[in-house]
Amino acid sequence: MVSINGSTVLVTGGQRGLGKAFVEAALDLGAAKVYATARSPRPSADPRVVPLPLEVTDPRSVAALADQARDVSIVINNAGVTLRRPLISTPIDEIKNHFETNFFGVLRVTQALAPTLAANGGGALINVHSVLSWAAGAGAYGAGKAALWSATNSFRVDLAAQGTQVVGVHLGYTATDLTADLDVVKSDPHEVAREALLAVEIGQTEVLSDDVSRQFKAALSGPVEGLEFALVDGHLMARHPTAGTAV
Ligand SMILES: NC(=O)c1ccc[n+]([C@@H]2O[C@H](COP(=O)([O-])OP(=O)(O)OC[C@H]3O[C@@H](n4cnc5c(N)ncnc54)[C@H](OP(=O)(O)O)[C@@H]3O)[C@@H](O)[C@H]2O)c1
Repeated sequence: MVSINGSTVLVTGGQRGLGKAFVEAALDLGAAKVYATARSPRPSADPRVVPLPLEVTDPRSVAALADQARDVSIVINNAGVTLRRPLISTPIDEIKNHFETNFFGVLRVTQALAPTLAANGGGALINVHSVLSWAAGAGAYGAGKAALWSATNSFRVDLAAQGTQVVGVHLGYTATDLTADLDVVKSDPHEVAREALLAVEIGQTEVLSDDVSRQFKAALSGPVEGLEFALVDGHLMARHPTAGTAV
């Protein structure tokens, strides 16, 4: 269990979308300082928010971040991009580029910041996955999030000895720039972020932030056909009834 109150938090991609909501939720819960990264950071009017540059695909940028954020005790790997295209027809280079951000980017930041977390008492690592970590048909995005889910679970083992709590967050459609073009039912990013931080405070290791995430997690023990997703009346849900009750 890690208390947000008085902590120093780092949020990758913290100036937009879900990352911005994480920054605001951390401050609401009493964080003393929050590093909010962006590729081209803008100044913040709030003295508790420290904008820092970060390009997660660039090892030098990640090393510079680790150098500047030596007082961090909670790291939130939020930065990510989408790629909506069938896996079968996505050029391999495009898939590699996507993994550079959504998978290797998170690995880079985690490896670079893990010694800082150890030095500061263990703290917490929060990785933002997606319900599409578990949903068939989500292309390179789903594959990247599935790989990330696996990596998060390995980091939990790797970092146990240094006392770092490792938390994975799963969510369906949420109202940010990433989904601005989609006419679907979306969660409020502030609610997702707050729930994830409260989960850290009570020692949870996995956050299923909405019905569709809970539905797909439950479907993992069923037939694989139950992992295909569909949109029904704007709701993301499992296509087959074997997955359980629809949202
Ligand atoms: N929105 C959803 O429905 C949804 C659902 C499930 C999971 N997620 C996950 O939630 C996370 C946040 O997504 P979002 O919805 O807030 O998306 P968003 O509004 O598009 O914001 C993406 C964030 O990622 C950062 N970013 C992207 N590429 C980066 C790079 N190469 N280096 C550093 N930062 C980079 C952006 O920073 P800049 O300011 O520098 O552009 C921005 O802050 C992602 O991991 C996404 O996969 C979102």
